[in-house]
Amino acid sequence: MKYHILFDCDPGIDDAVAFALAGAHPEVFVMDGVTTVAGNQTSERVTGNALKLIAFLGIDAPVARGAAGPLLREIIPAGDIHGSTGLGNCVLPETDRTVVPEFAPEFMCRKIRELPRGERMVLVPTGPLTNIALLLKAFPDCREKIDRIVLMGGSMSGGNITVSAEFNIWEDPEAAAIVFESGIPIVMCGLDVTMQCGFRREQVRQLLRDESEVARAYGEMMNFYFETTVYEKQEKIAIHDAVTFMYLLHPEIFSGREMHVQIDCSEGLNRGMTVCDTRVWSDAKPNALVLLQADSDKFEEYLLEAIHSYR
Ligand code: RIB
Ligand code: CA
Repeated sequence: MKYHILFDCDPGIDDAVAFALAGAHPEVFVMDGVTTVAGNQTSERVTGNALKLIAFLGIDAPVARGAAGPLLREIIPAGDIHGSTGLGNCVLPETDRTVVPEFAPEFMCRKIRELPRGERMVLVPTGPLTNIALLLKAFPDCREKIDRIVLMGGSMSGGNITVSAEFNIWEDPEAAAIVFESGIPIVMCGLDVTMQCGFRREQVRQLLRDESEVARAYGEMMNFYFETTVYEKQEKIAIHDAVTFMYLLHPEIFSGREMHVQIDCSEGLNRGMTVCDTRVWSDAKPNALVLLQADSDKFEEYLLEAIHSYR
């Protein structure tokens, strides 16, 4: 199975791991483009990180810069979880790669329209959904050529940036509402499943000692997590964004439920909450496959295999 992919991201350590997973499988992913959105860090930093990552990993994909903040609200970066550069303490080699001149939603539209007849695009957003919302609103003709949206975001079981909400949805709830109400099939890789998917301290330490420069760089990125308040007392880190591409590669290691998901766009305690309708008698039409379970061991095995595939 081959997928045409537009990867919308805010690298971000776990976004960077998603790059490595996708880049290790060119036989599955045709990376038609990478677009950046401000979230974990500013637009300038996440865009610089995306360019360095495609060069470091040898991924042949154009990069377009996107929204520098949410549709309506002021941007609030994700804080110290990814460090001041967005990639922890890891310093990737400089690159002369540059962005394409188009704004990300325009670039995405062009790539979708350029698809060969009969082909459809899979959107993989792993940051706030601002660019995706702008694409859908500005270029509605693209909708029919989007196969599905496999996104990292949301949660049925409590948040991370607040008690109620997951960061990507919380940062731009209005954009998320546009996406979830679009009618395009969604696979929601929320905290319920992503918290089961990551590496233990010892696995990260082993990467740090690896002979491969790429493996060591990823060990350095992920080791930064253990220095943050979120993980300083934890034995395992969650590599949220990698779940998106892992689902496309190995859907058999995941399970979930089709549900109707709404976004709370109010201000206050539940801002950005993904309100999932679990009522079996509900007549609300499901708009998302919400992933709930993962085979954590298989996730670790396949992700380590991908990271070690770079020599
Ligand atoms: O809540 C986790 C999400 O927020 C991930 O995409 C991470 O990169 C941050 O953007
Ligand atoms: Ca992200």
